[in-house]
Amino acid sequence: MPPVQVSKICCIGAGYVGGPTCAVIAFKCPHISVTIVDLNQARIDAWNSSDFKLPIYEPGLVDVVKHARGRNLFFSTDVDKAIQEADLIFVSVNTPTKKSGVGAGFAADLNYVELATRRIAAVAHSSKIVVEKSTVPCRTAESMRTILEANSRPGCRFDILSNPEFLAEGTAIEDLLAPDRVLIGSLQTPDGLNACESLANVYANWVPKERVLTVGLWSSELSKLAANAMLAQRISSINALSAICEATGANIDEVAHAIGFDSRIGPKFLRASVGFGGSCFQKDILNLVYLSESLHLPQVAAYWRQVVEMNEYQKSRFSKTVVDTLFNTITGKHIAVLGFAFKADTGDTRESPAISLVRDFLSERAYVTIYDPQVEEAQIWLDLSEACPLVPLETIKKQVTIASSALDACKNMEAVVIATEWKEFREINWDSVYKNMNKPAFVFDGRMLVDADALRAIGFKVKVIGRGERV
Ligand code: NAD
Ligand code: UGA
Repeated sequence: MPPVQVSKICCIGAGYVGGPTCAVIAFKCPHISVTIVDLNQARIDAWNSSDFKLPIYEPGLVDVVKHARGRNLFFSTDVDKAIQEADLIFVSVNTPTKKSGVGAGFAADLNYVELATRRIAAVAHSSKIVVEKSTVPCRTAESMRTILEANSRPGCRFDILSNPEFLAEGTAIEDLLAPDRVLIGSLQTPDGLNACESLANVYANWVPKERVLTVGLWSSELSKLAANAMLAQRISSINALSAICEATGANIDEVAHAIGFDSRIGPKFLRASVGFGGSCFQKDILNLVYLSESLHLPQVAAYWRQVVEMNEYQKSRFSKTVVDTLFNTITGKHIAVLGFAFKADTGDTRESPAISLVRDFLSERAYVTIYDPQVEEAQIWLDLSEACPLVPLETIKKQVTIASSALDACKNMEAVVIATEWKEFREINWDSVYKNMNKPAFVFDGRMLVDADALRAIGFKVKVIGRGERV
């Protein structure tokens, strides 16, 4: 079959990836009709809301949706219709870590991918290009092809592509408009290569040709896991060094600056922190660990597992620093946690280090006040309930307050903990914060955000991750 001129796209999954990715395709390709579908009615209603209260917060997203929605961008729960009409289908459903059964705690749960694939096979009347957008273990495309071929109607054929997404939350629109690269994996057969060209032609509407990389299917699938593993490994490496800095009096910011000047290392992704969060780094590394073990490569599995273990260590090390510094007990003390999202510019809290910190503080019987500019209150209660499964929500609510501003959160506290690097926390009026806090007033900066010397001049006792000064 020659390359298909794609004119109708369906995206299954209207989440953090499917929504922004396909909204940008619609924005950049007015000649292509894009329908994003999901089983979650509330999510679709939010995408369609007249006041553009979209289900995810992402800078620039509203403008893209305003531009294209109703023109060539549609959101719907009618999955079957969108599948039937499309010539290219993105599968962009969630692939969380399995909670039970074989591989529990490590392997990716491919149930949603399989259900979406079976739906395509069940309802498609014509041939389709099916694109794996979700992050999946190596060779998942083969399982999808087997399911599609075994269930397809006569005359329908399916070409499978892998097109993993590399956007980061908070900068998703920038990343999609000017990606470092777009990766497309296909079978190296004439049909596979033609399907690859069809998708490459969609991206060619705004992505320079040299940035569209085409490779084999399995390399594409593995490259996605590899990219996340190597990014997370960099953070665990710098965080491991931050512990050495704290013990020796070195400054992790200066160390990162010095090593980042080596053009082979580069300056990006070397910010020490309270630990990485987000829905993917941990999940994808655990997936790689599982894959390595399945392939009888225990040393490789142990190597990658250490990246996650170092992250757990960093989170608990930070909690311990808070307890140790507050005279070895925080029982009955009041702590403000600024930031609950896993990074700035998103309302997403999946695997946020703030959740672990608050859980640790609650288990020490401290009182915690949380403020985040984007995270909904209901999400915070849900996350804390999941993090403390043995504690009833009513009990949690007696220990936790949610504030509506950073200044309110810090009133009458003994300590302020910065867990997310929101820009507004850089601009806090620390003089007012100090006046309203119990003394001695402590600031624990898990994001290297504050001017520690300026805060000390006000009177604060300050601990910054990766700095060895004594308070
Ligand atoms: P998400 O949970 O935000 O969204 C997935 C959506 O798929 C949900 O709304 C869910 O209701 C829907 N869904 C599940 N099964 C369905 C079905 N059978 N039919 C229709 N809808 C269905 O997940 P996400 O963050 O968008 O991630 C999706 C995939 O992309 C994952 O594999 C993830 O690893 C990968 N990824 C995520 C990011 C990120 O920044 N979040 C970045 C790159 C890659
Ligand atoms: C990450 C990758 O950057 C994306 O390329 C990938 O597509 C995505 O995962 C995915 O597959 O889901 P994301 O998790 O959205 O994107 O955000 P990042 O900017 O990578 O940050 C992840 C975590 O690492 C955050 O908690 C962040 O605060 C932390 N981080 C990041 C650091 O602690 N230090 C740094 O130098 C950089």
